[in-house]
Amino acid sequence: MQTFAEELEALRAEGLYRSMRVIRGAQGSRVELDGKQVLMLCSNNYLGLADHPSLRSAAVFGVAFGVGSGASRLVSGNMELHERLETRIAAFKGTEKALVFNSGYAANTGIISALVGRGDAIFSDRLNHASIVDGALLSRANSHRYAHRDTDALERLLREKGGKGRRLIVTDGVFSMDGDIAPLGKLVQLARQYDALLMVDDAHGSGVLGATGRGTAELSGVMDGIDIHMGTLGKGFGSFGAYAAASSTICEYLVNKARSFIFSTSLPPAVLAASIAAFDLVDSAEGQGLREKLARNVALFKERLAAAGLDTMGSETQIVPVFVGPAEATMEFSRRLLDEGIFVQGIRPPTVPAGSCRLRCTVMATHEPAELEAAAETIAKVGRELGVI
Ligand SMILES: Cc1ncc(COP(=O)(O)O)c(C=O)c1O
Repeated sequence: MQTFAEELEALRAEGLYRSMRVIRGAQGSRVELDGKQVLMLCSNNYLGLADHPSLRSAAVFGVAFGVGSGASRLVSGNMELHERLETRIAAFKGTEKALVFNSGYAANTGIISALVGRGDAIFSDRLNHASIVDGALLSRANSHRYAHRDTDALERLLREKGGKGRRLIVTDGVFSMDGDIAPLGKLVQLARQYDALLMVDDAHGSGVLGATGRGTAELSGVMDGIDIHMGTLGKGFGSFGAYAAASSTICEYLVNKARSFIFSTSLPPAVLAASIAAFDLVDSAEGQGLREKLARNVALFKERLAAAGLDTMGSETQIVPVFVGPAEATMEFSRRLLDEGIFVQGIRPPTVPAGSCRLRCTVMATHEPAELEAAAETIAKVGRELGVI
């Protein structure tokens, strides 16, 4: 049996060792990282709300209700602010109800393992987030993974593997490491045709995509076709937590069955108040302006990378991967960019398949166009030096 230390050494040898870096000060488009000023190009704080004055003051208001909620929702931790946030989310998504979870990871593992179990079937895109994969494992349902965005493959599985139990199709709205979008129109049609529930994890689309920021479902014109809208509050919304927006029955069912909801202390008041303020902001003219600036920034950044001959792997959103291939070269790329004052993480297995390592760049509304142009130029320069282009 290998010792823990030997396993860690093996990870280092394969270029797969992970460690954390320290940010001093608030999250912004520029940060102090391990004592050095750098351009932030790997945060999911897409609209810059994590440090927005309205969210800060809302959090301070929330502290008036104390710093902790004291218990899980079903014991004594259900505060007025939880209910207010859920009403706000349901109105935003146009569903009967919403239920808040403590994180996206907790939401996916809790929702999936509650809705399906032994004898049921899950149909999951091969590139879905790890929390969906873990939710499927926990559920003990038969899990069928279809090739990425391949609705023909999904239909074959639905035809052949359905069984008599419940069926759940689950997909990321925006794929977190590729930045492409699920074919939601076709998924809605297949869910109806094969009597399956459809759950969309819109962690990276909500607040950001669609004419009014409702996310990938709005962008695809299928807001009403999705049974469970899952979303997170720690990315575009700049706060923390997650939710399921769905029918009253499904939310009531989750209150009774989702173990990550039942057996965990609920979110604290300051976080809830900040999240409510985030929805107000996303719905405001300022929010609209931020989304428009983000879209312009994304177009500019991608255009500069493509002009330099870099492969952005079919990204359709603010998540812009730059394909490298091997793990060691990807990490060297990321180190060299940090020397140049750009903070981008290299993404390796097990997050992405071996041989498809990449830099995962994320564009923010609070980046200045000139910063993104300069960053693209530096990425291209380092890419040429490393033989990636
Ligand atoms: C698609 C997707 N779903 C769920 C999560 C988990 O959300 P959270 O960070 O709130 O746990 C993430 C990222 O962290 C994600 O990218």
